[in-house]
Amino acid sequence: MSSQSSPAVVVDPGRGMHTREVSLRPVGPGEVEVEVRSAGVCHSDLHVLNGDWPTDRPLILGHEAAGVVTATGAGTTGLEPGDHVVLSWFAPCRRCRKCAAGKAWLCTETRAVDNTLPDGTTPFTDADGEQVWPYLGLGAFTERLVVPESAAVKVPEELPFDVGALLGCSITTGIGAVANTAEVRPGESAVVIGTGGVGLSVVMGLRLAGADPIVAVDLSPERREAALRFGATHALDGAATDVAAWCREELGGADHVFEAIGSPRVIETLPDMLTSGGAAVLVGMAPIGATGAFDLFDLADQGKRILGCNYGSSVGQVDIPRLARLYLSGRLPMDDLIGTIRPMSEVEAAFDDLKAGTGLRTILRP
Ligand SMILES: NC(=O)c1ccc[n+]([C@@H]2O[C@H](COP(=O)([O-])OP(=O)(O)OC[C@H]3O[C@@H](n4cnc5c(N)ncnc54)[C@H](O)[C@@H]3O)[C@@H](O)[C@H]2O)c1
Ligand SMILES: [Zn+2]
Ligand SMILES: [Zn+2]
Repeated sequence: MSSQSSPAVVVDPGRGMHTREVSLRPVGPGEVEVEVRSAGVCHSDLHVLNGDWPTDRPLILGHEAAGVVTATGAGTTGLEPGDHVVLSWFAPCRRCRKCAAGKAWLCTETRAVDNTLPDGTTPFTDADGEQVWPYLGLGAFTERLVVPESAAVKVPEELPFDVGALLGCSITTGIGAVANTAEVRPGESAVVIGTGGVGLSVVMGLRLAGADPIVAVDLSPERREAALRFGATHALDGAATDVAAWCREELGGADHVFEAIGSPRVIETLPDMLTSGGAAVLVGMAPIGATGAFDLFDLADQGKRILGCNYGSSVGQVDIPRLARLYLSGRLPMDDLIGTIRPMSEVEAAFDDLKAGTGLRTILRP
């Protein structure tokens, strides 16, 4: 049980990003306390930091993490202290119609997107008693956190924590986009635009699914190189290539296009890349309120589809252990996604890595 104070990486509308000491309250019914061992730095944290998704309250960043259960509350049924877990940032309620239909990623009752626990509270306070809120209901850039049991997914102890952390967001999102959202079949063609942590996970998923060709597009030569290592058959410079024209000429239009940047300007170009009946999957998250324009006649006439993709249309309890098993049996090169490993105190440098595209996924360890 808790709790001394520990440092946490907080973004505050008035103060920007800084480290603040926070205390954690003990677990309540249905909750677990988790000691964070590894946390990835995802572009969604950067969207909060740079104001794409504004917050009016201090938030502890971090939503891609793995750790060890240190305490369980009354009524928890599936977890015990010592269990290794991946944190899942869309804690489903397990009761709403979407959850009942097996679509946990569409849960209508989750409060994670409001950056609170399911009861609308936060488990964190600072030394002045001010409440500090968990980004996506987790707040993983700190030493320990409290979450509902549905946000902690048990994984095998052999799974390295750094891989587990990436399973918490980028990998599950990227592979899920291929397997669940787009349902890619062997031999279908696919284009991935933006090959950071999420886009490279899409590439991994496409290789597993047997897509061919797999075309990666990025502005960074290192990212294009990485995409080829992860299984892309072609890599294009997004700044120097008219990707839609390339897709029409070389592929007769792609069966699937995945956008993993969150750029409205790029998203508007996706339908032009598709063959008739093809699907554009929006994995990247645009700034709140952003809109886009498409040729509406072409969409209808050619039966093209635009699919939204939250969390890779994944059910954490099902998909995370499944992907962990595929990693452990050598089927997915998830280790290769791990970039620089830094102590939590180097969070500024970690965001600089992300902004500059240095290395692949930077990991923070408390
Ligand atoms: N759908 C979801 O549930 C979900 C989950 C996680 C992340 N995301 C979103 O996915 C997006 C990507 O996240 P990430 O962590 O992989 O980011 P990242 O910063 O690691 O990767 C983005 C990549 O896009 C490339 N890029 C930028 N502009 C480009 C352009 N015009 N053309 C080609 N390439 C370009 C960059 O060089 C970089 O390699 C973000 O918007 C993030 O919020 C969505
Ligand atoms: Zn993320
Ligand atoms: Zn629900």
